[in-house]
Parts: sequence; structure tokens; C-alpha cells
Amino acid sequence: MPRPGDRVFRRRLSTRRDFLRESAAIASAGLGVPWLAPTSVFGVYAPSNRIHVGCIGNGNQSTLDLPAFLEQPDVQVLAVCDVNTASHGYVTPDQFLGRKPAQERVNAFYAKGSPSGQYKGCDACHDFRDVLARKDIDAVVLVVPDHWHALITIMAAQAGKDIYCEKPMSLTVRQGRAMVAAVRKHRRVFQTGSQFRSSPANRLGCELVRNGRIGDVKRILTFVAKQNAEDPGPGWKPMPVPEGFDYDFWLGPAPWAPYHQGRCLYRFRFNLDYSGGQTTNFGGHSNDIAQWGSGNDHTVPIEYEDLGSEWPKPGGLYNTATKVAFRARYASGMELICRTAEPHFGCRFEGTEGWVQFDFQGLHTHPESLKNSAIRPDEIRLPVSNKDRKENSSKFYIPDHVRNFVDAVKSRQDPIEPVEIGHSTATLCHLGNVAMRLKRKIRFDPAKEEIPGDEEAHAMLGRPMRPPWHL
Ligand SMILES: NC(=O)c1ccc[n+]([C@@H]2O[C@H](COP(=O)([O-])OP(=O)(O)OC[C@H]3O[C@@H](n4cnc5c(N)ncnc54)[C@H](O)[C@@H]3O)[C@@H](O)[C@H]2O)c1
Repeated sequence: MPRPGDRVFRRRLSTRRDFLRESAAIASAGLGVPWLAPTSVFGVYAPSNRIHVGCIGNGNQSTLDLPAFLEQPDVQVLAVCDVNTASHGYVTPDQFLGRKPAQERVNAFYAKGSPSGQYKGCDACHDFRDVLARKDIDAVVLVVPDHWHALITIMAAQAGKDIYCEKPMSLTVRQGRAMVAAVRKHRRVFQTGSQFRSSPANRLGCELVRNGRIGDVKRILTFVAKQNAEDPGPGWKPMPVPEGFDYDFWLGPAPWAPYHQGRCLYRFRFNLDYSGGQTTNFGGHSNDIAQWGSGNDHTVPIEYEDLGSEWPKPGGLYNTATKVAFRARYASGMELICRTAEPHFGCRFEGTEGWVQFDFQGLHTHPESLKNSAIRPDEIRLPVSNKDRKENSSKFYIPDHVRNFVDAVKSRQDPIEPVEIGHSTATLCHLGNVAMRLKRKIRFDPAKEEIPGDEEAHAMLGRPMRPPWHL
């Protein structure tokens, strides 16, 4: 794995002071630097108080994450970065994404706040190591496919950056553990991008469960969405790599494979080389809330078994479960069943005296009156991302999750979903995949992170990386 000291790290690193001086020069050249506007010079949002951010990965989810960072008054996005220059081919046909459109978006946003109406200060990088090498960048936002999460997190931690990393936090259990070690070793702030923890309704639901309002929890049902991309199927033909797309860099640590448009942008989630299918994609949210509500953030179930999962025919481009179905059992005996089901996303806690469920429509309880019950000050209270947020709307989850990260960067406290918790949730999802792939029960030792007595399953906790990339 390239490290500080390699070519990209050896060049002179600009300091934050250099950057302010250069930016002032840009401002005086009439290009407009909104954070040098008189109203912000001496206040809490003055340049010296701003968190300088680089956004790595400018695809589908970045259309939500990037604006959430732009909207923070004490954040300045200095750079965007993507191995794709600009193209269609993302999840919806109208999306035209990549580093150039992201750069234009950032510049247009800051231009609106600039007296000259112009701004050109956002850098567009091809290589994330150029972002990490900038001394004036405090934090990075990783919205890249899962096979890149560990490497960029570890290199960012080594370079002294704080990290907002999209869920699922890791590609494998071993990679997740290496991320935890690097973040803690380098004392970085790390937020997992599981924004459903920043929902007031989900928090209330989890507090109701944690405070015994549904009695003893016997079972948790978690729901994931159906696969939402069509496999080109066996017989798919390689395609020419589009201009402006650095396919070899996109593959990075993943095994080399011929290019096909269904492999990369957005659809990477349905190939195990890059992700874990809907088990880790939607499971990274629904199982996350299961862990939170059941008070299991620092452990995972110890047993996993397949419940009739379905998989595509070999030879296609996609090889993740088309129907997710596994059962997990915690050391306490409580069960978690994760399925492809309607509602297509969510989590239901079933207790001896009622149930609590969250999904896209919000919070549902039985008895219904439960959701109006107040949590007393002496009861278990879960962390709040934005204390001022009263309304429960999914449009606020990401901005509040981002706000929580920015506050943590300033306070140097852990945010709502630090690296260990992201690792637990991702581990649960990965182990579900292992049991479903092998079609047999596996037992996991959470303390040692081992699958004793099953070499094949144990080997699936990690995987090699394509040189020169390595952990
Ligand atoms: N929190 C959520 O609700 C949510 C929703 C969707 C996606 N996500 C997560 O966000 C991540 C990205 O998903 P997406 O849907 O945006 O995928 P995407 O393919 O639309 O976008 C990823 C972008 O990263 C770029 N990229 C790949 N390797 C790179 C590298 N080494 N350096 C720089 N750029 C690189 C790609 O070219 C692409 O533009 C995934 O981990 C996914 O699980 C989270």
C-alpha cells in the first residue's frame, strides 16, 4: 500500500497558512472566496474556525452527502476527488456525476455567497492521495465503493485526517478491524455514514426498547430491499472503458476483471468483489438500528444460519444474494432474522409486551400509544445528533449526521457512530453473508473475531488485495 514517503507524499505539503494566503490572492483577483467575507472574518465561522474538507467519491450518494457538508456554515469543501471525470451511468439516467460536476457544484455553491458572484477555489483531484497530502485539509468524506473504504480510511488516519466514511463501513471483518486500529492509533474522529441513527423517531424507538417498554426482546426482524439492478447474466460481454474513467484505479485492491458498465457505478454493490449486496447495503442500516435498540453496539451475534437465501446463477456479473434470509443468535439467546421483505427496509423489535418498528414511513408501535410515551430523565437516553431537531423527516437525517460529525471534529469526542460501532454492524452483515453463502450454521467468537472449527468460513473473514494495494 502506498504510504507517506512515496512519490505523492514526498512533495512539499502546503500549510493551512499558505492556503489562506493563496486564497486571499484568489479573492483579490476577483474570484470570490466567501469565507473571507467581512461578516465571517471574526466570528465562529471565521476561516481559522472552519473545518476544511475533501470529498472523495462523487457519485450517487455524494449528491446527498456533499450538499450536507456544503450547508454547514463552519465547513469549507476545498477539494473533490473521483476516478471518474464526468459521466452518466449512475443509478438514475439523469445523474451526470464525477469529479468535474462535483467541482462545479461546490464552486457554484460558494459563488452564491461571494460578493463577486464567482468562486473557483475547489480542487478536483483524480487521486485521493493528493487530497490526503494537503495539509490544509482536516477531514475527508469517503463516498467510494466498499472495497475502497478500508484503504482510504487507513491512509487518511495516517495522514492525520478525520473521516466520515459511508456505510457499510468495511468490505470484510478483517478490513473493519484494521480500520478500528488505525483510527484509534492516530486519534482520529470517525463517523460511519449510517444516518438512520440521526433520526429522532429511530432514537425514540430504540429508547423505548432499551427501557423495557415492550418487555423482554425475543426477536428482531430486519428488512432489506430487493436487488435493484438487472444482472447482464451469463454470457455478458466486456465493454470498452469510457473516456475519462480510470477503471484500473476504480478496481484498486479488487481482483482485475474486464470492464462492463454494470460492474462499476452504483451497481458495484451486487458483486462480492466490491460489496456484499443488499445484506450489507440496506442491512448496514436496518441491522445497525437492531444493534442500537438491543444495546449490542459493542458485540455481534454468535451464531448465524441460512434461512433459504437465493443466489444468482454462476457466470453472471452479479453474485450477491438475490433473496436475503438468515437467522442470527446473540449470546443472550435473542434472535435476529434478516430478510428481503416488505416493508423493503426497516427493523422490528418484538418483545413480550409489544413491538416497535421503524421503516421509511417512520415509527410504528404496538400498542400504538407507546410511541407517545416520554422517556424520563432517569431512563436510558441515547445520543442525539442535533438537539434542535424536533421534526422527524428523512431529509434531515444526513445533514444532522454530518453536523454531528463536524461537532465531533471540533470537540474531539466520538460522534454518534464511531468506528467500533460501524465495525460491529458491518461484521454482523458480513457474517450473515458467510452463513448464506456456505448454507450452513457458523459460530463466531466476537472477542477473538474468529470462526473456530470452520476453516473455510474463517478464511472468508478477510481477503487478499490486488498488489500494490495492501493493508
Ligand atoms: N448512507 C446511505 O444511505 C447510502 C446510500 C447509498 C450509498 N451509500 C454508500 O456510499 C458509497 C458509494 O455508493 P454510491 O451509491 O455513491 O456509488 P457510486 O458508484 O454512485 O459512487 C461512487 C463514486 O466513487 C468513485 N470512486 C471509486 N473508486 C474511487 C477512488 N479510489 N477514488 C475516488 N473515487 C472513487 C466512483 O467513480 C464513483 O463516482 C457506498 O459505500 C455505499 O454503500 C450510502
